[in-house]
Amino acid sequence: MSTFQDYVDSFDNESGYLNWAAFGPLSPSVREEVFADADLLASGRPSSLALVGERIGQAQELVAELLGADAADVTLQSSSTHGLMHALFGLTGGVIASTAEFPSVSLTVERASTASQCAVTPRWITPGDGRVTPDAVTDALDDDVVALAVSHVDFRTGFRTDLAALREAIGPDRLLIVDAVQSFGVIDADYSAADVVVGHGYKWLRAGRGSAFGWFSPRARERIAPVLSGITGTTSPGLFVDELPAPAPSARAFTVSQPDTLAAGRLAIGVRDVRDAGVAAIEARLVENVDTVIEIADRHGIEVSSPRERHQRAGIVSLAPAEPGRLAAALANAGIVVTARGAAVRIAPHAGTDAASLELLDDTLRAFGNETFISA
Ligand SMILES: Cc1ncc(COP(=O)(O)O)c(C=O)c1O
Repeated sequence: MSTFQDYVDSFDNESGYLNWAAFGPLSPSVREEVFADADLLASGRPSSLALVGERIGQAQELVAELLGADAADVTLQSSSTHGLMHALFGLTGGVIASTAEFPSVSLTVERASTASQCAVTPRWITPGDGRVTPDAVTDALDDDVVALAVSHVDFRTGFRTDLAALREAIGPDRLLIVDAVQSFGVIDADYSAADVVVGHGYKWLRAGRGSAFGWFSPRARERIAPVLSGITGTTSPGLFVDELPAPAPSARAFTVSQPDTLAAGRLAIGVRDVRDAGVAAIEARLVENVDTVIEIADRHGIEVSSPRERHQRAGIVSLAPAEPGRLAAALANAGIVVTARGAAVRIAPHAGTDAASLELLDDTLRAFGNETFISA
């Protein structure tokens, strides 16, 4: 796969799949390569195992390339929540986070506080619109605050934070810990404002679960104690017995044990495909598809609660229909896969979402609107 069109053509899932913010059906290349890697592992030959083991370094290199970072500062994690645990459990001081965050952020801040006997102190903010803006953060700042933990793109509202503006709000001395699960690989962001970035492969990268990463900048490593450091995170290059080596002076300190090499391979291929297609091109097509979803919702009189401004959104369109349950049922009956939660219906297309999926959405909402009219 080399061109953007090749990438778009690789979306071979059924039309009507509009749930990329929850799970990304595995891409053909990820499927092919994981079968090949599994065959190599089945042989048991040391050379075959070593070949699959190379996936770890490949994944680190590719993630680093997309982040504009150093590969040695990228760790592979089994979930983005694991990455956030490494970042948050080792802090000392106040951590600003929104109560409305995905629990990988909020619950982890809380657990870090409990485990550290309040050395980590949550500074909860509850912005009215759920948006973590520089103003909302500035209001919560005081001398004890050492970090802000935030989702780059909110899983519910679809709001994309301005990382550079958040950095400016917290100043140069506090850590900016970013959950990039809903943006990495589809938004051409400048992550240099952040100190820690976590993400995973099972949504927008189409790489399946277990394929997460955490990037820890040199500054983050200076300030975060590697309290969850495990047997792969020490100064010892290999196995150690009868000694208890100190945590490594590198990002490796934020690892527990050997990564799953099959997961590393899936992550490497998922990121490689995105790199080859170009994140900017992916973002541009995603923007168009999100524009279309918003236009369809508007045309059928369904309220859009997620941001309309292109720079404030990514791939999530949140609808606030008058009858959410009935809308969710109508979409499911039409074979459209979305996330319906409470009063909201979340629609998440990808760059490779086909015209047929968007037409199906249009047709279903038209029929849904007419039903309301008839039964009223
Ligand atoms: C913003 C955000 N962060 C974290 C997660 C969970 O990530 P993981 O399963 O890798 O821990 C999700 C899952 O939907 C999410 O939307």
